[in-house]
Amino acid sequence: MKRVQVLLRLIATILIACWSGCSKPGNSIAIAGDSTRTFREIVEHSPGRLGLSKTELAGKIVFTKYCQVCHGAEGDGKGFNAFNLQNSFGTQPANFTDSTTLAALSEETIITAISKGGKAVGKSQYMPPWGGTLRTEEVENVAAYIKTLAKMLEKTESSK
Ligand code: HEC
Repeated sequence: MKRVQVLLRLIATILIACWSGCSKPGNSIAIAGDSTRTFREIVEHSPGRLGLSKTELAGKIVFTKYCQVCHGAEGDGKGFNAFNLQNSFGTQPANFTDSTTLAALSEETIITAISKGGKAVGKSQYMPPWGGTLRTEEVENVAAYIKTLAKMLEKTESSK
């Protein structure tokens, strides 16, 4: 009986150690795992850590769901679908961490690119139109969020 108790305690200790170790947020800007959190958790716990406004956070949720697959979790254009786009169509998702990418575009172009797709702004048709999927507010939110990606990178670089 005693042995079983000791064993159980050991297992519990290992589990706790692993859980707290694994759930520690890294110092990188990568926010992997946010997709498994509820909207409420993200809004209530993240603003301080990520330095995002509520609009930007709402945009981050849209980004994680719809854009990350191509543009990458950090917006570097290296989502897991980027490889296919490059291989099959010779095109790559925009890299938002390069601070010149979005800076070169007007607010209107960014909104149009998102809602009407790449083709509407003279870019690749493999940037899909999201106007039918996202509400106007969601398009505006995600536009606000992608602009923070370059800023965040600058922040981590200068803090090195
Ligand atoms: C299927 C892959 C894919 C998904 C999903 C995707 N994009 Fe793109 N996106 C692209 C590609 C490819 C380009 C590059 C177009 C080019 O440079 O010709 C691009 C470019 C852009 C641009 C720059 C347009 C310009 O004029 O330079 C913006 C802004 C953008 N995407 C936003 C988003 C947002 C926001 C989402 C999610 C709602 C999203 N994208 C989802 C593939 C994707």
